Amino acid sequence: MKDRFGREIRSLRVSITNKCNLKCFYCHQEGHLSNNNRSMTAEEIGKIVRTSTKFGVKKVKISGGEPLLRKDVCDIIKNIKDERIKDISLTTNGILLENLAENLKNSGLDRVNVSLDTLNPFLYKKITRFGDVNRVISGIKKAVDVDLTPIKINFLATSINISDLKNIMEFCKDVGAILQIIEFIPLNKDLKKYYVDITPIENEIKEKADKIITRKFMQNRKKYIIDGLEIEFVRPMDNTEFCLHCTRIRLTYDGYLKPCLLRDDNLVDILTPLRKGDDLEKYFIECIKRREPYFKLSRGI
Ligand code: 5AD
Repeated sequence: MKDRFGREIRSLRVSITNKCNLKCFYCHQEGHLSNNNRSMTAEEIGKIVRTSTKFGVKKVKISGGEPLLRKDVCDIIKNIKDERIKDISLTTNGILLENLAENLKNSGLDRVNVSLDTLNPFLYKKITRFGDVNRVISGIKKAVDVDLTPIKINFLATSINISDLKNIMEFCKDVGAILQIIEFIPLNKDLKKYYVDITPIENEIKEKADKIITRKFMQNRKKYIIDGLEIEFVRPMDNTEFCLHCTRIRLTYDGYLKPCLLRDDNLVDILTPLRKGDDLEKYFIECIKRREPYFKLSRGI
C-alpha cells in the first residue's frame, strides 16, 4: 500500500522496550517519550508484525530502549519470522550481545546494528554513563563469528566523538562491518552545542570513494565504498530527500503505530483493538493515511 504521497511501506521498526542499561546523553528514545507502562507480549508483537506484511512490510528492525534487555527477545524473533519478511535486524548497544548472539542467530535474526561512538573506554563511559566499551567490542566480534551479518556500526556524530571517527573506520574495516555515520538530532537547546554538520565529512569521503550507491528505498541514503569499507550517511535533519523516500513505519514499545520518527502527535493505538479481538488492518490503513513528509519540499506551508 502507498501513502498519500505515493510512498510505499516496506519496513517496520519495532521498539520492544523503553528500558535501557545505558543513559546516552543524546538519546531520542525513538521519538517517543512516554511514561506509559503498557507493553506488548511476544505473541502480540508477532501478530502485529504479521499483519504489517499485508501492507508491504518486508523488513523488520527490532529496537528499544535496549532490546536485549527483554528476556523473551528470542521468542519475539521467532514470532516475527515469516516467509514474507526478508530481513530481520536488531539495533543494540552491544553490551549484552556476546552471550546472546548465538541464540539470536538460531532464533532467526539475520543481522545486527551496534551503536558504537568511540573505542575510547573513558569517552564511551562519558557518553553512555554506564557502559564498558570492551563488552561492546566482544559482542561485535561474537556477532561476526555467528554470522549476524552484514553488521552495521552506528556512529552518532557529535562534537565530543567526531575526532574518533578515523579509529572507528579502521575498526569497521578490521571486523568487516558497514559504518553508518548518523547525524545528531538535538532534542533541546542544551544539546545543540554538540551538533556537528557531517556534510564536509561526506564530501571528503565522496571524493575518495571507489564507488557510490544510492539506496532508493531507504530514504535515498548514499553509500560509499572506500578501500573495501562501506560507509553510509543517515541524515534526517531538514532533509526533504530523507522524507520523500521514507518507506518506514514504526511500532512503539507500548503498542502504537507511529507514522513518523519525528512526530509523536499522530500515533495510532493498535494494542487496545488487538486485545479486544478487533481486526488490525484498519489501524494500519489509518497509520498509513496519517503519513506525511516531516520535511516538505516547499517549506512553510
Ligand atoms: N539523534 C540521532 N540519532 C540518535 N540515536 C539516538 N539518539 C539520537 C539522536 N538524538 C540513534 C543512535 C543509536 C540509534 C539506536 O539511535 O545512533 O545508534
